[in-house]
Amino acid sequence: MSDKATLQLQGKTYEFDVSIGTEDERCIDISTLRSETGFITMDPGFGNTGSTFSSITYVDGANGVLRYRGYPIEDLATKTTFVEAAYLILYGELPNKEQLTHFSNQLREHAWLHTNLEHHFSGFPKSAPPMAILSAMLNLVSCFHPEVLDVHSDGPEFDRTAALLLSKVRTIAAFSYRMAAGKPFNQPNPNLSYCSNFLHMMFTMPYQEYIAPKVVENALKLFLVLHADHEQNCSTSTVRVVGSSRANLFSSVAAGVCALWGPLHGGANAAVIRMLEDIRESGRPLDHYLDMAKDKNNPYRLMGFGHRVYKNFDPRSIIMKKQVHEVLNELNKTDPLLEIAMELEEKTLADDYFVSRHLYPNVDFYSGILLRAIGIPLNMYTVMFAIGRMPGWISNWRELLEHNQRISRPRQIYTGQSARKFIPLEDR
Ligand code: ACO
Repeated sequence: MSDKATLQLQGKTYEFDVSIGTEDERCIDISTLRSETGFITMDPGFGNTGSTFSSITYVDGANGVLRYRGYPIEDLATKTTFVEAAYLILYGELPNKEQLTHFSNQLREHAWLHTNLEHHFSGFPKSAPPMAILSAMLNLVSCFHPEVLDVHSDGPEFDRTAALLLSKVRTIAAFSYRMAAGKPFNQPNPNLSYCSNFLHMMFTMPYQEYIAPKVVENALKLFLVLHADHEQNCSTSTVRVVGSSRANLFSSVAAGVCALWGPLHGGANAAVIRMLEDIRESGRPLDHYLDMAKDKNNPYRLMGFGHRVYKNFDPRSIIMKKQVHEVLNELNKTDPLLEIAMELEEKTLADDYFVSRHLYPNVDFYSGILLRAIGIPLNMYTVMFAIGRMPGWISNWRELLEHNQRISRPRQIYTGQSARKFIPLEDR
Protein backbone atom coordinates (compact mmCIF):
# COMPACT_ATOMS: atom_id res chain seq x y z
CA MET A 1 0.00 0.00 0.00
CA SER A 2 1.20 3.53 -0.81
CA ASP A 3 2.33 5.49 2.21
CA LYS A 4 1.26 8.75 0.58
CA ALA A 5 -2.16 10.20 -0.13
CA THR A 6 -2.51 12.31 -3.26
CA LEU A 7 -4.81 15.32 -3.51
CA GLN A 8 -5.62 17.06 -6.76
CA LEU A 9 -6.85 20.59 -6.29
CA GLN A 10 -7.18 23.42 -8.80
CA GLY A 11 -4.86 21.70 -11.25
CA LYS A 12 -2.11 20.96 -8.74
CA THR A 13 -1.13 17.68 -7.08
CA TYR A 14 -0.20 17.46 -3.41
CA GLU A 15 1.07 14.53 -1.40
CA PHE A 16 0.41 13.82 2.25
CA ASP A 17 1.86 11.18 4.57
CA VAL A 18 -0.28 8.24 5.63
CA SER A 19 0.13 6.80 9.14
CA ILE A 20 -1.06 3.44 10.41
CA GLY A 21 -1.74 2.62 14.07
CA THR A 22 -0.94 -0.67 15.79
CA GLU A 23 -4.48 -1.92 15.07
CA ASP A 24 -4.29 -0.95 11.39
CA GLU A 25 -6.25 2.29 11.82
CA ARG A 26 -5.26 4.70 9.05
CA CYS A 27 -5.00 8.45 8.77
CA ILE A 28 -3.84 11.07 6.30
CA ASP A 29 -1.61 13.64 7.93
CA ILE A 30 -2.98 16.98 6.71
CA SER A 31 -1.00 19.18 9.09
CA THR A 32 0.59 21.01 6.13
CA LEU A 33 -2.64 21.21 4.08
CA ARG A 34 -3.41 24.86 4.74
CA SER A 35 0.13 26.13 4.36
CA GLU A 36 0.55 24.20 1.08
CA THR A 37 -2.90 24.63 -0.51
CA GLY A 38 -4.66 27.50 1.29
CA PHE A 39 -7.57 25.09 2.00
CA ILE A 40 -8.78 23.75 5.31
CA THR A 41 -10.96 20.67 5.90
CA MET A 42 -14.53 20.97 7.23
CA ASP A 43 -15.69 18.29 9.66
CA PRO A 44 -18.30 19.55 12.15
CA GLY A 45 -18.48 17.21 15.14
CA PHE A 46 -15.02 15.85 14.17
CA GLY A 47 -16.43 12.49 13.00
CA ASN A 48 -13.51 12.09 10.55
CA THR A 49 -10.83 14.02 12.37
CA GLY A 50 -8.06 12.51 14.46
CA SER A 51 -6.77 14.96 17.04
CA THR A 52 -3.89 12.87 18.37
CA PHE A 53 -1.90 9.64 18.36
CA SER A 54 -2.60 7.88 21.64
CA SER A 55 -1.47 4.68 23.33
CA ILE A 56 -4.05 4.63 26.12
CA THR A 57 -7.33 3.16 24.87
CA TYR A 58 -8.38 1.34 21.70
CA VAL A 59 -11.98 1.26 20.47
CA ASP A 60 -13.09 -0.72 17.40
CA GLY A 61 -16.65 0.47 16.90
CA ALA A 62 -17.52 -1.96 14.14
CA ASN A 63 -16.66 -5.00 16.24
CA GLY A 64 -17.55 -3.75 19.72
CA VAL A 65 -13.96 -3.86 21.00
CA LEU A 66 -12.69 -1.76 23.92
CA ARG A 67 -9.23 -2.18 25.43
CA TYR A 68 -7.33 -0.16 28.01
CA ARG A 69 -3.59 -0.37 27.27
CA GLY A 70 -4.25 -3.53 25.27
CA TYR A 71 -6.33 -5.36 27.90
CA PRO A 72 -9.92 -6.23 26.86
CA ILE A 73 -12.64 -4.52 28.89
CA GLU A 74 -14.30 -7.91 29.46
CA ASP A 75 -11.23 -9.05 31.46
CA LEU A 76 -10.69 -5.80 33.29
CA ALA A 77 -14.35 -5.48 34.30
CA THR A 78 -14.31 -8.76 36.17
CA LYS A 79 -10.67 -9.23 37.14
CA THR A 80 -9.36 -5.86 38.34
CA THR A 81 -10.28 -3.30 40.95
CA PHE A 82 -10.89 0.29 39.90
CA VAL A 83 -7.60 1.27 41.53
CA GLU A 84 -5.69 -1.29 39.43
CA ALA A 85 -7.48 -0.14 36.27
CA ALA A 86 -6.69 3.49 37.12
CA TYR A 87 -3.01 2.63 37.59
CA LEU A 88 -3.00 0.77 34.27
CA ILE A 89 -4.54 3.71 32.43
CA LEU A 90 -2.18 6.22 34.07
CA TYR A 91 1.07 4.29 33.88
CA GLY A 92 0.59 1.86 30.98
CA GLU A 93 1.06 -1.42 32.90
CA LEU A 94 -0.91 -3.37 35.48
CA PRO A 95 0.68 -2.71 38.88
CA ASN A 96 2.62 -5.41 40.72
CA LYS A 97 1.83 -5.86 44.43
CA GLU A 98 4.37 -3.30 45.57
CA GLN A 99 3.26 -0.67 43.06
CA LEU A 100 -0.38 -1.26 43.94
CA THR A 101 0.29 -0.86 47.65
CA HIS A 102 2.20 2.36 47.04
CA PHE A 103 -0.54 3.74 44.77
CA SER A 104 -3.33 2.72 47.19
CA ASN A 105 -1.44 4.36 50.07
CA GLN A 106 -1.18 7.57 48.07
CA LEU A 107 -4.94 7.50 47.44
CA ARG A 108 -5.56 6.87 51.12
CA GLU A 109 -3.28 9.75 52.12
CA HIS A 110 -5.13 12.25 49.93
CA ALA A 111 -8.76 11.32 50.62
CA TRP A 112 -9.40 14.13 53.12
CA LEU A 113 -10.59 17.65 52.26
CA HIS A 114 -9.21 20.77 53.92
CA THR A 115 -11.73 21.87 56.57
CA ASN A 116 -11.95 25.35 55.05
CA LEU A 117 -12.97 23.66 51.83
CA GLU A 118 -15.79 21.89 53.65
CA HIS A 119 -17.39 25.26 54.43
CA HIS A 120 -17.75 26.02 50.74
CA PHE A 121 -20.31 23.26 50.33
CA SER A 122 -22.78 25.14 52.53
CA GLY A 123 -22.57 28.10 50.12
CA PHE A 124 -24.40 26.11 47.45
CA PRO A 125 -28.20 25.98 47.46
CA LYS A 126 -29.46 22.53 48.47
CA SER A 127 -30.92 22.14 45.00
CA ALA A 128 -27.58 22.79 43.26
CA PRO A 129 -26.83 20.15 40.61
CA PRO A 130 -23.98 17.95 41.92
CA MET A 131 -22.19 18.26 38.55
CA ALA A 132 -22.00 22.05 39.03
CA ILE A 133 -20.67 21.52 42.55
CA LEU A 134 -18.14 18.96 41.36
CA SER A 135 -16.75 21.18 38.63
CA ALA A 136 -16.55 24.21 40.94
CA MET A 137 -15.00 22.24 43.79
CA LEU A 138 -12.34 20.67 41.58
CA ASN A 139 -11.09 24.13 40.73
CA LEU A 140 -11.45 25.20 44.34
CA VAL A 141 -9.52 22.26 45.76
CA SER A 142 -6.50 23.31 43.73
CA CYS A 143 -6.47 26.61 45.65
CA PHE A 144 -5.81 24.61 48.82
CA HIS A 145 -2.94 22.72 47.22
CA PRO A 146 -1.21 25.44 45.19
CA GLU A 147 1.58 23.06 44.16
CA VAL A 148 -0.89 21.24 41.86
CA LEU A 149 -1.23 24.42 39.81
CA ASP A 150 2.26 23.74 38.49
CA VAL A 151 2.08 21.69 35.34
CA HIS A 152 4.03 18.41 35.66
CA SER A 153 3.48 15.45 33.39
CA ASP A 154 5.94 13.12 35.10
CA GLY A 155 7.94 12.45 38.25
CA PRO A 156 6.73 12.45 41.85
CA GLU A 157 4.89 15.77 41.29
CA PHE A 158 2.65 14.19 38.66
CA ASP A 159 2.14 11.03 40.77
CA ARG A 160 1.07 13.10 43.74
CA THR A 161 -1.24 15.39 41.76
CA ALA A 162 -2.91 12.45 40.01
CA ALA A 163 -3.43 10.56 43.29
CA LEU A 164 -4.73 13.68 45.00
CA LEU A 165 -7.29 14.21 42.26
CA LEU A 166 -8.37 10.56 41.98
CA SER A 167 -8.88 10.39 45.71
CA LYS A 168 -10.45 13.75 46.44
CA VAL A 169 -12.97 13.58 43.58
CA ARG A 170 -14.75 10.81 45.47
CA THR A 171 -14.80 12.79 48.72
CA ILE A 172 -16.12 15.90 46.95
CA ALA A 173 -18.83 13.81 45.27
CA ALA A 174 -19.97 12.24 48.54
CA PHE A 175 -19.89 15.58 50.39
CA SER A 176 -22.02 17.26 47.72
CA TYR A 177 -24.68 14.59 48.24
CA ARG A 178 -24.50 14.89 52.05
CA MET A 179 -24.79 18.67 51.88
CA ALA A 180 -27.90 18.51 49.69
CA ALA A 181 -29.45 15.88 51.93
CA GLY A 182 -28.72 17.96 55.05
CA LYS A 183 -26.65 15.11 56.50
CA PRO A 184 -23.31 15.48 58.31
CA PHE A 185 -20.14 14.79 56.33
CA ASN A 186 -18.46 11.44 56.89
CA GLN A 187 -14.69 11.58 56.91
CA PRO A 188 -12.91 8.98 54.75
CA ASN A 189 -11.93 5.75 56.46
CA PRO A 190 -8.38 4.60 55.59
CA ASN A 191 -9.24 0.96 56.29
CA LEU A 192 -11.72 0.74 53.44
CA SER A 193 -11.25 0.03 49.75
CA TYR A 194 -11.73 2.86 47.20
CA CYS A 195 -15.35 1.87 46.50
CA SER A 196 -16.34 0.95 50.09
CA ASN A 197 -14.87 4.21 51.30
CA PHE A 198 -17.00 6.18 48.86
CA LEU A 199 -20.13 4.25 49.89
CA HIS A 200 -19.27 4.86 53.56
CA MET A 201 -18.90 8.62 52.94
CA MET A 202 -22.27 8.58 51.14
CA PHE A 203 -24.36 6.48 53.48
CA THR A 204 -22.94 6.21 57.04
CA MET A 205 -25.21 7.91 59.56
CA PRO A 206 -24.34 9.03 63.09
CA TYR A 207 -24.31 5.88 65.23
CA GLN A 208 -25.13 3.78 62.16
CA GLU A 209 -22.08 2.81 60.21
CA TYR A 210 -22.76 1.81 56.60
CA ILE A 211 -20.83 -1.31 55.68
CA ALA A 212 -21.13 -1.92 51.95
CA PRO A 213 -22.26 -5.46 51.09
CA LYS A 214 -19.72 -7.15 48.81
CA VAL A 215 -22.22 -7.25 45.95
CA VAL A 216 -22.73 -3.48 46.17
CA GLU A 217 -19.00 -2.77 46.39
CA ASN A 218 -18.35 -5.03 43.38
CA ALA A 219 -21.13 -3.46 41.35
CA LEU A 220 -19.69 0.00 41.97
CA LYS A 221 -16.20 -1.24 41.12
CA LEU A 222 -17.44 -2.66 37.83
CA PHE A 223 -19.33 0.56 37.03
CA LEU A 224 -16.18 2.63 37.59
CA VAL A 225 -13.92 0.29 35.59
CA LEU A 226 -16.34 0.37 32.64
CA HIS A 227 -16.22 4.18 32.64
CA ALA A 228 -12.49 4.60 33.26
CA ASP A 229 -11.56 5.72 29.74
CA HIS A 230 -13.00 5.91 26.26
CA GLU A 231 -10.43 7.57 23.98
CA GLN A 232 -11.28 10.93 22.36
CA ASN A 233 -14.91 11.36 23.49
CA CYS A 234 -16.46 14.79 24.10
CA SER A 235 -15.29 15.27 27.70
CA THR A 236 -11.80 13.84 27.15
CA SER A 237 -11.36 16.02 24.08
CA THR A 238 -12.45 18.97 26.23
CA VAL A 239 -9.83 18.10 28.84
CA ARG A 240 -7.23 17.94 26.06
CA VAL A 241 -8.33 21.23 24.48
CA VAL A 242 -8.16 23.01 27.83
CA GLY A 243 -4.90 21.26 28.76
CA SER A 244 -3.38 22.24 25.41
CA SER A 245 -3.21 25.83 26.68
CA ARG A 246 -1.01 24.32 29.46
CA ALA A 247 -3.82 24.87 31.96
CA ASN A 248 -3.28 22.83 35.13
CA LEU A 249 -4.77 19.38 35.59
CA PHE A 250 -7.52 20.49 37.99
CA SER A 251 -8.97 23.18 35.73
CA SER A 252 -8.67 20.85 32.73
CA VAL A 253 -10.70 18.08 34.36
CA ALA A 254 -13.18 20.61 35.81
CA ALA A 255 -13.92 21.53 32.18
CA GLY A 256 -14.23 17.81 31.40
CA VAL A 257 -16.93 17.53 34.09
CA CYS A 258 -18.91 20.32 32.38
CA ALA A 259 -18.69 18.58 29.00
CA LEU A 260 -19.73 15.27 30.53
CA TRP A 261 -22.80 16.83 32.13
CA GLY A 262 -24.75 17.17 28.85
CA PRO A 263 -27.53 14.64 28.12
CA LEU A 264 -25.93 13.56 24.84
CA HIS A 265 -22.85 12.44 26.80
CA GLY A 266 -22.60 11.39 30.48
CA GLY A 267 -25.86 13.10 31.42
CA ALA A 268 -27.60 10.35 29.44
CA ASN A 269 -27.39 7.90 32.37
CA ALA A 270 -29.83 10.00 34.42
CA ALA A 271 -31.88 10.92 31.34
CA VAL A 272 -32.46 7.20 30.63
CA ILE A 273 -34.00 6.68 34.06
CA ARG A 274 -36.21 9.76 33.63
CA MET A 275 -37.30 8.43 30.25
CA LEU A 276 -38.10 4.96 31.63
CA GLU A 277 -39.97 6.44 34.57
CA ASP A 278 -41.95 8.62 32.21
CA ILE A 279 -42.85 5.58 30.10
CA ARG A 280 -43.95 3.66 33.18
CA GLU A 281 -45.99 6.49 34.69
CA SER A 282 -47.69 7.47 31.43
CA GLY A 283 -48.91 3.93 30.75
CA ARG A 284 -48.56 4.69 27.02
CA PRO A 285 -47.38 1.88 24.72
CA LEU A 286 -43.67 1.77 23.87
CA ASP A 287 -44.53 2.35 20.20
CA HIS A 288 -45.64 5.85 21.13
CA TYR A 289 -42.07 6.62 22.30
CA LEU A 290 -40.48 4.87 19.33
CA ASP A 291 -42.65 6.93 17.00
CA MET A 292 -41.61 10.14 18.75
CA ALA A 293 -37.92 9.17 18.48
CA LYS A 294 -38.32 8.43 14.77
CA ASP A 295 -40.25 11.62 14.00
CA LYS A 296 -37.80 14.04 12.36
CA ASN A 297 -39.96 17.00 13.44
CA ASN A 298 -39.68 15.96 17.08
CA PRO A 299 -36.41 16.49 18.98
CA TYR A 300 -37.24 13.50 21.22
CA ARG A 301 -34.53 10.79 21.24
CA LEU A 302 -34.36 7.43 22.95
CA MET A 303 -31.82 8.15 25.64
CA GLY A 304 -29.12 5.52 26.04
CA PHE A 305 -29.28 4.59 22.35
CA GLY A 306 -26.73 5.37 19.67
CA HIS A 307 -23.03 6.06 19.70
CA ARG A 308 -20.63 7.95 17.47
CA VAL A 309 -18.16 5.06 17.38
CA TYR A 310 -19.97 1.78 18.22
CA LYS A 311 -22.00 0.63 15.25
CA ASN A 312 -22.96 -2.91 16.28
CA PHE A 313 -22.95 -2.99 20.04
CA ASP A 314 -21.27 -1.23 22.93
CA PRO A 315 -19.36 -3.92 24.86
CA ARG A 316 -19.85 -1.95 28.08
CA SER A 317 -23.61 -2.14 27.68
CA ILE A 318 -23.50 -5.95 27.37
CA ILE A 319 -21.41 -6.24 30.56
CA MET A 320 -23.59 -3.70 32.36
CA LYS A 321 -26.82 -5.49 31.46
CA LYS A 322 -25.49 -8.81 32.74
CA GLN A 323 -24.30 -7.14 35.95
CA VAL A 324 -27.71 -5.50 36.52
CA HIS A 325 -29.37 -8.93 36.50
CA GLU A 326 -26.78 -10.41 38.84
CA VAL A 327 -26.94 -7.54 41.31
CA LEU A 328 -30.74 -7.45 41.43
CA ASN A 329 -30.78 -11.24 41.95
CA GLU A 330 -28.19 -11.12 44.71
CA LEU A 331 -29.94 -8.23 46.44
CA ASN A 332 -33.24 -10.05 45.99
CA LYS A 333 -34.73 -6.99 44.32
CA THR A 334 -36.74 -6.37 41.18
CA ASP A 335 -36.92 -3.17 39.18
CA PRO A 336 -39.88 -2.48 36.90
CA LEU A 337 -37.67 -0.14 34.86
CA LEU A 338 -35.48 -3.10 33.86
CA GLU A 339 -38.47 -4.84 32.26
CA ILE A 340 -39.33 -1.68 30.32
CA ALA A 341 -35.70 -1.22 29.28
CA MET A 342 -35.38 -4.77 27.95
CA GLU A 343 -38.68 -4.51 26.08
CA LEU A 344 -37.55 -1.22 24.56
CA GLU A 345 -34.25 -2.74 23.48
CA GLU A 346 -36.05 -5.71 21.92
CA LYS A 347 -38.39 -3.41 19.98
CA THR A 348 -35.55 -1.30 18.61
CA LEU A 349 -33.68 -4.43 17.48
CA ALA A 350 -36.70 -5.27 15.30
CA ASP A 351 -37.21 -1.75 13.99
CA ASP A 352 -35.64 -0.70 10.71
CA TYR A 353 -35.18 2.94 11.85
CA PHE A 354 -32.83 1.85 14.64
CA VAL A 355 -31.21 -1.07 12.83
CA SER A 356 -30.43 0.92 9.68
CA ARG A 357 -28.86 3.72 11.74
CA HIS A 358 -26.92 1.30 13.96
CA LEU A 359 -28.60 2.59 17.11
CA TYR A 360 -27.99 0.13 19.96
CA PRO A 361 -27.96 0.55 23.75
CA ASN A 362 -24.83 2.38 24.88
CA VAL A 363 -23.10 2.24 28.29
CA ASP A 364 -25.68 4.60 29.79
CA PHE A 365 -28.74 2.50 28.97
CA TYR A 366 -28.41 -0.04 31.78
CA SER A 367 -25.98 1.80 34.08
CA GLY A 368 -28.71 3.87 35.77
CA ILE A 369 -30.59 0.71 36.72
CA LEU A 370 -27.39 -0.61 38.28
CA LEU A 371 -26.87 2.61 40.25
CA ARG A 372 -30.53 2.53 41.40
CA ALA A 373 -30.06 -1.02 42.62
CA ILE A 374 -27.13 -0.03 44.84
CA GLY A 375 -28.90 3.03 46.24
CA ILE A 376 -27.18 5.91 44.41
CA PRO A 377 -29.57 8.89 44.06
CA LEU A 378 -30.54 9.91 40.52
CA ASN A 379 -28.94 13.36 40.60
CA MET A 380 -25.57 11.70 41.38
CA TYR A 381 -25.46 9.38 38.35
CA THR A 382 -23.39 11.62 36.11
CA VAL A 383 -21.10 12.44 39.03
CA MET A 384 -20.49 8.68 39.33
CA PHE A 385 -19.53 8.67 35.66
CA ALA A 386 -17.11 11.55 36.33
CA ILE A 387 -15.41 9.66 39.19
CA GLY A 388 -15.01 6.69 36.87
CA ARG A 389 -13.66 8.75 33.95
CA MET A 390 -11.03 10.53 36.04
CA PRO A 391 -8.15 8.12 35.18
CA GLY A 392 -8.83 8.60 31.46
CA TRP A 393 -8.95 12.38 31.74
CA ILE A 394 -5.72 12.51 33.76
CA SER A 395 -3.92 10.13 31.44
CA ASN A 396 -4.98 12.02 28.31
CA TRP A 397 -3.92 15.33 29.86
CA ARG A 398 -0.55 13.79 30.63
CA GLU A 399 -0.13 12.30 27.16
CA LEU A 400 -0.90 15.66 25.57
CA LEU A 401 1.95 17.26 27.52
CA GLU A 402 4.33 14.37 26.85
CA HIS A 403 3.67 14.82 23.12
CA ASN A 404 4.20 18.55 23.58
CA GLN A 405 1.04 18.98 21.51
CA ARG A 406 0.31 22.37 19.97
CA ILE A 407 -2.48 24.48 21.43
CA SER A 408 -5.89 23.33 20.09
CA ARG A 409 -7.13 25.96 17.74
CA PRO A 410 -9.46 24.83 14.93
CA ARG A 411 -10.17 27.03 11.91
CA GLN A 412 -13.50 28.13 10.46
CA ILE A 413 -15.00 29.28 7.20
CA TYR A 414 -16.56 32.68 7.77
CA THR A 415 -20.11 33.08 6.37
CA GLY A 416 -21.08 36.47 7.88
CA GLN A 417 -21.22 40.00 6.44
CA SER A 418 -18.35 41.31 4.36
CA ALA A 419 -16.65 44.53 5.49
CA ARG A 420 -19.16 47.39 5.74
CA LYS A 421 -19.24 51.02 6.76
CA PHE A 422 -19.90 51.78 10.45
CA ILE A 423 -23.28 53.51 11.10
CA PRO A 424 -23.31 56.02 13.98
CA LEU A 425 -26.07 55.48 16.62
CA GLU A 426 -28.10 58.56 15.54
CA ASP A 427 -28.32 57.24 11.96
CA ARG A 428 -29.50 53.70 12.87
N1 ACO B 1 -32.90 8.18 19.18
C1 ACO B 1 -33.41 8.39 17.93
N2 ACO B 1 -32.68 8.66 16.85
C2 ACO B 1 -31.35 8.77 17.03
C3 ACO B 1 -30.74 8.56 18.27
C4 ACO B 1 -31.57 8.26 19.37
N3 ACO B 1 -31.04 8.05 20.59
N4 ACO B 1 -29.41 8.72 18.14
C5 ACO B 1 -29.18 9.00 16.86
N5 ACO B 1 -30.35 9.03 16.18
C6 ACO B 1 -30.50 9.23 14.72
C7 ACO B 1 -30.26 10.68 14.33
O1 ACO B 1 -31.46 11.42 14.34
C8 ACO B 1 -29.70 10.51 12.93
O2 ACO B 1 -30.77 10.21 12.06
P1 ACO B 1 -30.73 10.71 10.50
O3 ACO B 1 -29.54 10.03 9.91
O4 ACO B 1 -32.03 10.28 9.96
O5 ACO B 1 -30.58 12.20 10.58
C9 ACO B 1 -28.85 9.24 13.04
O6 ACO B 1 -29.46 8.48 14.09
C10 ACO B 1 -27.39 9.49 13.37
O7 ACO B 1 -27.35 10.22 14.60
P2 ACO B 1 -26.35 11.39 14.93
O8 ACO B 1 -26.97 12.31 15.93
O9 ACO B 1 -25.84 12.00 13.67
O10 ACO B 1 -25.17 10.57 15.60
P3 ACO B 1 -24.00 11.18 16.44
O11 ACO B 1 -22.88 10.25 16.31
O12 ACO B 1 -23.76 12.60 16.08
O13 ACO B 1 -24.55 11.19 17.96
C11 ACO B 1 -25.23 10.38 20.09
C12 ACO B 1 -24.31 10.16 18.85
C13 ACO B 1 -25.03 11.80 20.61
C14 ACO B 1 -24.79 9.41 21.16
C15 ACO B 1 -26.70 10.13 19.67
O14 ACO B 1 -26.85 8.80 19.24
C16 ACO B 1 -27.67 10.45 20.81
O15 ACO B 1 -28.12 11.57 20.95
N6 ACO B 1 -28.04 9.42 21.64
C17 ACO B 1 -28.90 9.65 22.78
C18 ACO B 1 -28.11 10.24 23.94
C19 ACO B 1 -27.16 9.23 24.57
O16 ACO B 1 -27.54 8.11 24.88
N7 ACO B 1 -25.92 9.66 24.82
C20 ACO B 1 -24.89 8.82 25.46
C21 ACO B 1 -23.82 8.43 24.48
S1 ACO B 1 -22.63 7.38 25.23
C22 ACO B 1 -21.66 8.37 26.15
O17 ACO B 1 -21.48 9.51 25.89
C23 ACO B 1 -21.08 7.83 27.33
